[in-house]
Amino acid sequence: MLTRGREIVARAGFNPYRVDFDDKHFIDLASNNYLGLAGRAEVKEAAIAAIREHGVSLCGTPVASGHSAHARQTAKRLAAFCGLEAALFFPSCYQANNGILAVLAGEDDGIVIDRAAHASLIVGARACRAKISPFVHNSVEHLAHVLARAGKHRNIFVVTESVFSTEGSIAPLPEILALCREHDAIPVVDDSHGIGVLGASGRGALEHFGITDFPGIYTASLGKALAGMGGMVAGNAEIMERLEYLCPGLVYSTALTPPALGTLNGALDVIEREFSGLGKRLWQYREIVADALGAKRLAGEAPINAVPCGDAETAVRLTATLYQNGILATPFIEPSVPKNACVVRLIAGAGLSEEAVQRAARCIRACI
Ligand SMILES: Cc1ncc(COP(=O)(O)O)c(C=O)c1O
Repeated sequence: MLTRGREIVARAGFNPYRVDFDDKHFIDLASNNYLGLAGRAEVKEAAIAAIREHGVSLCGTPVASGHSAHARQTAKRLAAFCGLEAALFFPSCYQANNGILAVLAGEDDGIVIDRAAHASLIVGARACRAKISPFVHNSVEHLAHVLARAGKHRNIFVVTESVFSTEGSIAPLPEILALCREHDAIPVVDDSHGIGVLGASGRGALEHFGITDFPGIYTASLGKALAGMGGMVAGNAEIMERLEYLCPGLVYSTALTPPALGTLNGALDVIEREFSGLGKRLWQYREIVADALGAKRLAGEAPINAVPCGDAETAVRLTATLYQNGILATPFIEPSVPKNACVVRLIAGAGLSEEAVQRAARCIRACI
């Protein structure tokens, strides 16, 4: 894979995975800084205040010295923000998705997973000895078919993302939850690209769909709209307690640092205060970029615009052209997407000025 990646980069004469840029000369449509909070003064101040009060690191795992009152209060706040009973922090959402199923599922269980699910969920599913059955991406019909034929298991887990980040499609969660109820299955939903983005007040996919009694396991990255670092898992308090003591990626890994917790609190403060304006701008920018792309855009409902490119070299070349014109974009090539279904992704975050997004749109019209 690495050799093939190197060949593609050499042929395109551009390495999109090692770009050097500054804010003055580039319009950043590559980062997941959906609300622009990574540069907001209040969020930076919150991180600094947390360092002053609690230090730079807890220098221990959550079960050693990491179970601080600061961490507990922040987890409680985050769970309430998402409308769930309890939450745990992980060093990253990748680590959370990798570890939780290995604790909860074993050889007597089944895992039914969206074929396009994030690598961390797939690796996590493979880490337990449960039977894995993929279903066609976002297809309720195929999920129903797979569940009906799943056979006898102690528990069945239905694993998906809320927003699929390479194309911006949103999973039909109400229908998926209805099937879970019908088949007594436990939903596992990664809302990394929904938290801070979807819903009338930015609380994520559950708010977007009006789901108030989510019966499963919710995960999300704190490194996207929430502008920090780390991962979260949330849901029923009993399951969280089990994960807290049994999930190796949590038990044996250093707890989230005070500045990471401070950043999260600062981001939640801004979202709670300003989401109506920030969210509106994010969706407005999505439309500006979508208009510029016209028919050359993949259909996706989230504030993500993706350009289908076919093969990897075309995706890398398009990213290079955009870069030469002052726009940062992200190419997704196999194995992140299926072979010959490569895309270039553009996210115009609310932290950009409208003038910058209009300039990017003019450039996209000329380049794509
Ligand atoms: C859907 C999804 N899940 C999980 C992750 C991993 O998140 P983190 O960066 O917190 O490990 C990502 C990041 O790319 C993602 O897009």
